[in-house]
Amino acid sequence: MKTIGIVTSGGDAPGMNAAIRAVVRVANYNGLQVLGFQRGWEGIIMNNFIPLTPRSVSGIIELGGTILHTSRCMECQTSDGIKKSSKNLAANNVDGLVVIGGDGSLKGALALSKVSEARIVGIPATIDNDVFGTDETIGFDTAVNTAREEIDKIRDTAVSHERIFIVEVMGRQRGFLASMVGLTVGAEIILVPEIKYDEEALFGIIMENAARGKRSAIIVAAEGIGDTRKLSADIQKNTGLEARLSIIGYAQRGGSPTARSRFLASVFGNKAVQLLLDGRGNRVVGIQNSKVTDISLEESCGSTKSLDLSILELAKVLAT
Ligand code: F6P
Repeated sequence: MKTIGIVTSGGDAPGMNAAIRAVVRVANYNGLQVLGFQRGWEGIIMNNFIPLTPRSVSGIIELGGTILHTSRCMECQTSDGIKKSSKNLAANNVDGLVVIGGDGSLKGALALSKVSEARIVGIPATIDNDVFGTDETIGFDTAVNTAREEIDKIRDTAVSHERIFIVEVMGRQRGFLASMVGLTVGAEIILVPEIKYDEEALFGIIMENAARGKRSAIIVAAEGIGDTRKLSADIQKNTGLEARLSIIGYAQRGGSPTARSRFLASVFGNKAVQLLLDGRGNRVVGIQNSKVTDISLEESCGSTKSLDLSILELAKVLAT
């Protein structure tokens, strides 16, 4: 192992830069050189890369986004895209590749690992926290805290005006972010894509709360639950209470990573390089019960991480 490549792919997540830094510094410490492919998978397909040295990753541990840029690349999972990627890695003598991204990026990594001579290791980084094989992904904690801070402020208006607020957080497919944000802001109701909600039951909870003197509420809803604007209008019409919608949006993807996101980035980056030094590929690193671990890309991509429903139950009890 002499040369490793690194790529950030898919949606950016706070802590990706800290992971790049960790990979570059651990690689350099072990005598490896690093090539940084730019603009996500597209950089591998188009052969766009820059050499990364310990100095090129100075001052980035605290930065959100990714200095390598990123993109959502459909071509990376096509056989043509995989062939081009494999050819470019070989042409640049890349013996190992570290892919930093979410489930789509890891699927790309799996497809490439089947044809490329290079060993491939994934580092899970996504605010969605929906990667199987790790309790937590890089960026999740930061996104939770960004949303929490916003909702703490929204709560002031909700209480003062006695309004019902639906706050939409990210999560097109999964509700990990919504459930953690909901629990930690004391949301009265949490809506996740995994569980179909019943509008009538929702109105019932809001009105029961109002009858008990609780005339405001925060409903944290993942974007994947459906039309939150319509839901807000329906709540107002059916409960007689004022309802508002607030969409937090892309602010959740940005910002300086929390200590937790930086910690995960650092230990995941180290683990990824250690695996490559040990001659191991086709792996995804993770953290399980506080231990840094790794599983195969097949297992990670072929399994679905389950949402902890007890969090939703607890949130209900705590919001009474
Ligand atoms: O991967 C994180 C995420 O924010 C999802 O929750 C969301 O569905 C998606 O990215 C939207 O991202 P984009 O607009 O970049 O495709």
